[in-house]
Amino acid sequence: MRVLGIETSCDETGVAVYDSGAGLLAHALHSQVAMHRDYGGVVPELASRDHVRRVVPLIHDVLGRAGLALRDLDGIAYTQGPGLAGALLVGAGVATALAYALRIPVVPVHHLEGHLLSPLLATERPDFPFVALLVSGGHSQLFDVTGVGQYRLLGDTQDDAAGEAFDKTAKLLGLPYPGGPALAQLAASGTAGAVRLPRPMLASGNLDFSFSGLKTAVLTLARREAGGGATEDLPLARKADIAREIEDAIVDVLAGKAMAALVATDRKRLVVAGGVGANRQLRERLRAATAKRGGEVYFPELVFCTDNGAMIALVGALRLAHDGSRDPGFGVRPRWPLASLGQAAG
Ligand code: KG4
Ligand code: ZN
Repeated sequence: MRVLGIETSCDETGVAVYDSGAGLLAHALHSQVAMHRDYGGVVPELASRDHVRRVVPLIHDVLGRAGLALRDLDGIAYTQGPGLAGALLVGAGVATALAYALRIPVVPVHHLEGHLLSPLLATERPDFPFVALLVSGGHSQLFDVTGVGQYRLLGDTQDDAAGEAFDKTAKLLGLPYPGGPALAQLAASGTAGAVRLPRPMLASGNLDFSFSGLKTAVLTLARREAGGGATEDLPLARKADIAREIEDAIVDVLAGKAMAALVATDRKRLVVAGGVGANRQLRERLRAATAKRGGEVYFPELVFCTDNGAMIALVGALRLAHDGSRDPGFGVRPRWPLASLGQAAG
């Protein structure tokens, strides 16, 4: 079964074709990061308009590279939510129109389910069950995953997401959007422990997260260091020390909670998904910690950590095989809790 996947939930237009036998046949991505950078974040209306410009040429590009024609497709999957309403509508409109014209099933996909199952795109795929740490710009969640569509929420953020913590603290240091990669790069030249920040909720005894206190602590620290000047104008070496401590604090909390979730569920396999899963420090820490416990950690390839069409095509193919085909009607779901797909949140 060959499924075209279309992702337009935020600032990346992603298109891919996934074959349930042969795996990923082709994928293409257009990132709007450069366009939004001047504004310090995603401008929803600009995002929607750019998706309109990019999506059809990307579909042609991907089909061409896979050596396929539209008639070779068995289904079309698109991100139905969560995300920006206008941006989601572009993918939903194109996918639904194409599927109706071709008389093939259209499959609405939950964006986070895409992230969650993206490690299945790798050659070394995790078996079910596993614990998933989902860390993106909008989410920091832990799930117990027992199969496709079986996601039990173990822990969630009470305020900011991990990616948001990276992005907001990076902004305080005058780093460009998106802050995560920029902060990680600067942190590499900083000295560990040169400054000290809290590890929010690390010892809370549950699997929930909270990152807004960290942001406030960074603001207080940077203002004190700047002595009345602008925090963005601190000397680069000092900013690197702060960046290092921010990264260490976030990694300590994410790794601590992920390992606690493995213990609580008595699972051996951990899957890390979402944009923050691209963070090298986090990867190294979790590799060491899971190995120590006799377990394993799986990451999507770096290109499939952040938003992409491949994970949507993959979930589309899995869902078609799992649930069969039915007409879902047309619509987007800008707010859509992942736990509502499977068992109730617990
Ligand atoms: O999953 P994603 O592409 O989009 C959402 O669905 O939110 O995640 C984007 C987030 C941003 O907050 C970005 O700063 C963060 O992932 N990110 C990173 C790294 N690469 C991306 N954070 C830390 N280290 C990285 N290397
Ligand atoms: Zn995402």
